[in-house]
Formats: sequence, structure tokens, C-alpha cells
Amino acid sequence: MLKIWFLRLAGLYFLVGVGMGYAMSITEKFAQMPVHAHVNLLGWVSMAIFSLVYFARPAAAETRLAKAHFALYNLGLPIMMVALSLFLSGAKEAGPVIGLGATLLIIGVICFVINLFRQIKA
Ligand code: HEM
Repeated sequence: MLKIWFLRLAGLYFLVGVGMGYAMSITEKFAQMPVHAHVNLLGWVSMAIFSLVYFARPAAAETRLAKAHFALYNLGLPIMMVALSLFLSGAKEAGPVIGLGATLLIIGVICFVINLFRQIKA
């Protein structure tokens, strides 16, 4: 289930990411470009790769580390993206919230990498 939700959410982030790219292109306003880039790369590309790894190695998707990876990543990424967007719109008080989201996300990534080393050996 986790591998399916990673792919579904990746698809949603892809829609949001290309939608932002489209909006930037037609309005010629590029202030949100870092959000666009991170939604596409952390949301679409990275999450689609997580899903494919878990599809290729289903046992790796059943561990507590995989569940922690999913929960922390999907909590941290939207917090980070919304806070970054607000920050770029001028709400400088959102700065620490970017760090909070990034911290959750990176702990999720650490869980993923430990899981890879433990589960994928050959
Ligand atoms: C319909 C699809 C897309 C449109 C219309 C679009 C549009 C744009 C625009 C207008 C910029 C700002 C360029 C600049 O001011 O220098 C940009 C930057 C960027 N986009 Fe997209 N984009 C699309 C899809 C994607 C995808 C799928 C990815 C990654 C998987 C991506 C990654 C990036 C990155 C990393 C930057 C920053 C580049 C830099 O720092 O110079 N974009 N995009």
C-alpha cells in the first residue's frame, strides 16, 4: 500500500509542479521558482523513485523504517513547500517552519537509506 501511495502522491506533486511551471511561464513571474523546482524534484521525481524501489523490493516496503520514511517525508515535504512559498511571498516569519519541514523530511530520507542498506543486498 505504501508503494502505491508514494506513486499516487508523486503524480499529484507532478501535477502541482508542472502547474506552477505553467503559471510562471504565462504570468512571467518567477518568484516561486524554488518551490516549483522542489515540488518537481522532491515531490515527483524522488517519490516516484521511492515507489519503484519499493515495487522492485516489496519486502523493503514492509519494514518500520519504510513506514517512518513514508510518514516523515509526507509530513515534512508539504510543510516545507508551503512555508517556502510563504517565505518567498514576503512572510519572513515562515523561515523556521521551512527548517522544521526540512528536518522531518531529511529524517525520513535517513530512514529510507538505512532501509536500503538493510533490505537490498543483492
Ligand atoms: C510543464 C512543465 C514545466 C514548466 C512549464 C516549467 C517551467 C519552468 C520555469 C518558467 C522555470 C524558471 C526558469 C528561470 O527563470 O530560470 C523553471 C525552473 C525550474 N524547473 Fe521547471 N517547468 C516544468 C517542469 C519541470 C519539471 C518536470 C522539473 C523537474 C523534474 C522542473 C525543474 C525545474 C528546476 C530545477 C528549475 C530551476 C532551474 C534553475 O535554477 O535555473 N521543471 N521551470
